[in-house]
Amino acid sequence: MCGIVGYIGHREAYPIILKGLKRLEYRGYDSAGIALYDGKDLNMCKTKGKVADLQELLESEISTNGKLGIGHTRWATHGVPNDVNSHPHYSNSGNLAIIHNGIIENYDALKKELIKRGYTFKSDTDTEVLINLIEDVMINQHAKLGKAVQIALNQVVGAYAIAVFDKTKPNEIVVAKLGSPLAIGIGEDEYFIASDASPFIEFTDNAIYLEDEEMAIIRLNKDIKIRKIKDDSLVNPYIQKLQLNLEQIEKGGYEHFMLKEIYEQPLAIKDTYRGRLLVEEGIIKLSGVEDNMKRFLNADRIIIVACGTSWHAGLVAEYIFEDLARIPVEVEYASEFRYRNPVITEKDVVISISQSGETADTLAAIKLAKSKGAFVFGVCNVVGSSIARETDAGAYTHAGPEIGVASTKAFTTQITLLTMMALRLARAKGTISSSDYRRQLQELELIPEKVKEALKADKHIQSIAETYKDSRNMLYLGRGYNFPVALEGALKLKEISYIHAEGYPAAEMKHGPIALIDENMPVIVIATKKGHYEKVVSNIQEIKSRKGKIIGIVTQGDVSVRELADHVIEVPETLENLSPLLTTIPLQLLSYHIAVMLGKNVDQPRNLAKSVTVE
Ligand code: G6P
Repeated sequence: MCGIVGYIGHREAYPIILKGLKRLEYRGYDSAGIALYDGKDLNMCKTKGKVADLQELLESEISTNGKLGIGHTRWATHGVPNDVNSHPHYSNSGNLAIIHNGIIENYDALKKELIKRGYTFKSDTDTEVLINLIEDVMINQHAKLGKAVQIALNQVVGAYAIAVFDKTKPNEIVVAKLGSPLAIGIGEDEYFIASDASPFIEFTDNAIYLEDEEMAIIRLNKDIKIRKIKDDSLVNPYIQKLQLNLEQIEKGGYEHFMLKEIYEQPLAIKDTYRGRLLVEEGIIKLSGVEDNMKRFLNADRIIIVACGTSWHAGLVAEYIFEDLARIPVEVEYASEFRYRNPVITEKDVVISISQSGETADTLAAIKLAKSKGAFVFGVCNVVGSSIARETDAGAYTHAGPEIGVASTKAFTTQITLLTMMALRLARAKGTISSSDYRRQLQELELIPEKVKEALKADKHIQSIAETYKDSRNMLYLGRGYNFPVALEGALKLKEISYIHAEGYPAAEMKHGPIALIDENMPVIVIATKKGHYEKVVSNIQEIKSRKGKIIGIVTQGDVSVRELADHVIEVPETLENLSPLLTTIPLQLLSYHIAVMLGKNVDQPRNLAKSVTVE
């Protein structure tokens, strides 16, 4: 995920773009860049680091003059964060400049084709491929910029919000969108472009939000022309009156980053499997796994190391890998593993899971495993992070920046990625039938829609939160695949509401926690249809006979739990191994609402940090 900003009009573009980038920094902050056209030349400055680093460098290096410009703040996807990979990117002639938020999935094939035609590339990015493809169309098909953008985008597979201009025609910017957001602010003889309206909210409250597969040609002193990229048909611009204030817009209209990130999960999960899960072809493409298939297939066992929420994702993965791929798995807290002289051999595969890619204990565990000859695979969200660099191979979750300290979308995207890995290995090992494998792929593809469905229970969950917000303790129970979800649900509540909560395997309740149950103890029980349902229903009966308050997380249409529980929250039906992706959602929302009702700082809970870089 990245932030993009552009301006064309009668004001100086630089201050608008700079401030806009600062406001969009929540979308990515590993590198930034700005290109300005000063009436004669195109001046560009870009650097690894935050927008503040860019500002310092830019003001000492280039002229900040110009009434046309574009800027970018990056969350790296293709190519590590460095100066060269930062946006904007130029075409080979130096005439065209582009900023891009998204992923061009078929960039490799397009790049090879362009190299054959004599194009050269400075960066490792997919974006530089796109701008040269546009230039190639302009030259070879004698197309104007708008037409060339359209022709090029019709050859592209992936997601994008782009802004492009040609320094030889400096009265025009062309923008297009598919999958990533793009807003156009309309002022008096001036236009603003941005990933959301925050960069231009103080200049205009008139905005057009492009729909997917639409492009717009923005010319000074002319009306905006919007077209469908596929069939070239004209679209009537729909100008919206913005009613949001700045603060709200930065959080996309959500009260907190955590809530925004909870709601981003359908898209984040899709971004994790985008270009990797090819359902029709029956293929899972993960180059880090493919290139090291032998290491995985020869492994005696997999050891998963992680901390916090990522450790919970590792526990879910243990069930998935053992169940589908029949590989023995051990899940370790990185902080324990690194200090207990573990037995590691060259035949071990270690998978480290980390959102930030910077957690000190996880990093130390990786170094230890490597020193003993194990093959270490990283599952990270932050591109180019220390763990991503330290591991032998890996795969990114592509969840986009997670700002709320309590992890939400990182968890579900980690599970999505680990599920794809397990399925790929199961296929290679022949431990899954072709029909089950296909079914898994099809069901995984449906998860984003089902997460959306699960999110619809939000209002209902809010009313449950109201009832239990003053509880001193809560118990979370689950079995099988949903035992780790119970742990994660309890962690979410502790982290942000400071209410004591414990997660337990439902059947273990008898061995201790049952002593805690009375009429003041809310018990959240995950009781979906396919996960040892009858046994969990018996556990619910045991709680009920001790007067505990029961909140059941159930499959849509459930009858038995509804009869026993004080409240039920429904999630759509799916395969048992995919159910954590859905049962997690109500638990995130419940913690969130309780914390808000208690007046806690949801995004920055006391004593916690997003990235724990000390042990
Ligand atoms: C901190 C964060 C947690 C996170 C854990 C592991 O405790 O507050 O949300 O789960 O670190 O972080 P990682 O970046 O390695 O996933």
